[in-house]
Amino acid sequence: MAGRGNFSNRLGFILAAAGSAVGLGNIWKFPFEVEAGGGAAFVLIYLIFCFLLCFPVMVTEIAIGRKTNKNAVGAFNALGYSKWNIIGKMGIVAGVVILSFYNVVAGWALGYFFEMAQGNFSVGKEFGSYVSNISTTGIYAVIFMALTAFVVSRGVSAGIEKGAKILMPTLIVMILGLLAYSLTLPNAMTGVKYYLIPEFGELNLKTIGGALRQSFFSLSLGMGTIITYGSYLSKKENIISSTVSVTLFDVGIAFLAGLMLFPLVAYSTGGDMSNIQGGAGLIFAALPSVFESLGAGLGSILGAFFFLLLSFAALTSTVSLLEVPVSYVVDEHKISRPKATAITAGVIFIAGLPSLVGNGYSEMFTSFVTYIGAEKPVGFMDFLGHLADCMLLLGGFLIVTFAGYVWKKENLNEEIAIGYEGYENSRVKIFIGFAVRYLCPALLGILFVMVVLSNFFGVDIIN
Ligand code: TRP
Repeated sequence: MAGRGNFSNRLGFILAAAGSAVGLGNIWKFPFEVEAGGGAAFVLIYLIFCFLLCFPVMVTEIAIGRKTNKNAVGAFNALGYSKWNIIGKMGIVAGVVILSFYNVVAGWALGYFFEMAQGNFSVGKEFGSYVSNISTTGIYAVIFMALTAFVVSRGVSAGIEKGAKILMPTLIVMILGLLAYSLTLPNAMTGVKYYLIPEFGELNLKTIGGALRQSFFSLSLGMGTIITYGSYLSKKENIISSTVSVTLFDVGIAFLAGLMLFPLVAYSTGGDMSNIQGGAGLIFAALPSVFESLGAGLGSILGAFFFLLLSFAALTSTVSLLEVPVSYVVDEHKISRPKATAITAGVIFIAGLPSLVGNGYSEMFTSFVTYIGAEKPVGFMDFLGHLADCMLLLGGFLIVTFAGYVWKKENLNEEIAIGYEGYENSRVKIFIGFAVRYLCPALLGILFVMVVLSNFFGVDIIN
């Protein structure tokens, strides 16, 4: 496939795919789901889901991509099932939707890096006015999209792979460094215990459903990101072991992020963990004062360090999101990569404007829609998040159904066996066959329906 680009080796692919997987979701969502879901017990369930449910989906996506050497839409055409390319088309829409708001949040992280570096810790308390000030957040959103487009426009090995090879190891070193430091703080162990002490009583349908969705989103599945990255993977490589590496990487970083965060929080509250909120609230609103409590000099350095780390994690994810539509445009419309990247990034940035203004600046987008049965309206950004959630699960359901019943497991297995000598007689093969035909379609199908009902219709089985 001259001109299309390839990852230069297995490590390049693993770092790029892990870069896609490790993102804002790992650092601001996973730790709190763990805490709310029963600590170590939740981590265990999460790991089981990663391997039971997500693993076969990732293997399938990589196999479809590598078999065809095509983008998320072209792959289905190349297999001879062009009707099914609707999966890829929906994936491109999902990618545009997710990137449009994800880029705005990534811009906040970048902006916070500069605020922390200047010792401006008050942004945390003024988080609401910070995000409604669109002249600041707008500039950072432009910068972040430009950085993303810069990496993508350089192509697969000189851009995506090289970026991941620089950013991912740096990210690991940064997390480990901050983790080591945070464990030395007073009350650190209170934070660790709060995070990890298993409480099986907190495991219920809601937290388990949460674990399923989070694992799926976190591994970047269901929208053809991994099909696209798989299309640049060499036939020499073992798909199964690559998938194991990417999964462990993602779970490992998410786990470490929690181990780093909770001691910091416990330190700043003096060990009182009764009033902790999660998500954007903690990361953007509460963390700056945590850093402030470490003293102006050190706090500024560590705070800047943390938000730089968050920006790096976000960048390898935005790159993977942008690559899906870009790869489609390059393959199918024969437009040069730089041009395709510029156009796509521009369109997605514009699509992100409602998310940008929907955090306090524009009343209409801040209180965008009130769902059936809900009391309060949600903002445009949350609305897109809910929509994307559903699209990914539907996409994942369709991908495994396609592989299990249309393309057929024999063809899937044939592709997986390339680069993996013992696959033919392995247990993994039996598991994959079972998973793509029964386990994954059933679980993803049920989860999709439950998430649609609970996101939009207030039927709360799992929320
Ligand atoms: N996995 C990333 C995170 O945890 C987000 C992400 C990047 C993503 N690419 C994706 C999610 C593709 C779904 C599909 O933050």
